[in-house]
Amino acid sequence: MEFLRLIAPSILSANFAKLGDEVTEVVGYGADWIHVDVMDGQFVPNITMGPIVVEWLKTVTPSPLDVHLMIVSPEIYIPEFIKAGAGSISFHAEATPHIHRTLQIIREAHVRAGVALNPSTSLNVLEYVLDDLDFVLIMTVNPGFGGQKFIPATVAKVQKLREWLDVTGHADVLIEVDGGINETTAGVMREAGANVFVAGSAIFGAPNRQTTINQLREAIENGAQRP
Ligand code: DX5
Ligand code: ZN
Repeated sequence: MEFLRLIAPSILSANFAKLGDEVTEVVGYGADWIHVDVMDGQFVPNITMGPIVVEWLKTVTPSPLDVHLMIVSPEIYIPEFIKAGAGSISFHAEATPHIHRTLQIIREAHVRAGVALNPSTSLNVLEYVLDDLDFVLIMTVNPGFGGQKFIPATVAKVQKLREWLDVTGHADVLIEVDGGINETTAGVMREAGANVFVAGSAIFGAPNRQTTINQLREAIENGAQRP
């Protein structure tokens, strides 16, 4: 089985006044998925965007839109994001008591389903839903804002998750890492077993976005560029 490695620029760090152009630009540079951070001001202390943004982005790019819900009661809003055209949807384990049911809602619509975990949340919450998942999003910073510093303890967490998925016959479940990902941390997380690399400020804040995406690609294909 091919081991997928994808780059997902997070539009949280893009210029919202010209969002369509920003997305088209990074897709042209080789971005695989476009990561859409949805925040409700309750689960996290920030407010961003809703399904209508996904609906409009769908009209400017063929790339899968990877919706990361940082909202309470995600099951209420998931049908709207499905209708808007999301390619994948993750929600936080900490935000709902109904992880299994929520995964089912997403999967029944033939959309990739993922559970997101805060840095302090144990992998154990996934134990009885491993068959119901397409991917796990491991937060490598605390959710809420772009441009934060990568939390090193999450490397061992990704290693442990990759081993666990492999030994339990779930090797096809993707691991997405999100927060503080740059050329260095992407290489480290690649070695730990991550598949999808979200990068917001590293890409949209770069003086040359094409060069940064090339460097990220190099790091996730060929391994860590240790300092
Ligand atoms: C944080 C978001 C991230 C954020 C990452 O809550 O989930 O997707 O955009 O931004 P950087 O890459 O700047 O850490
Ligand atoms: Zn995110």
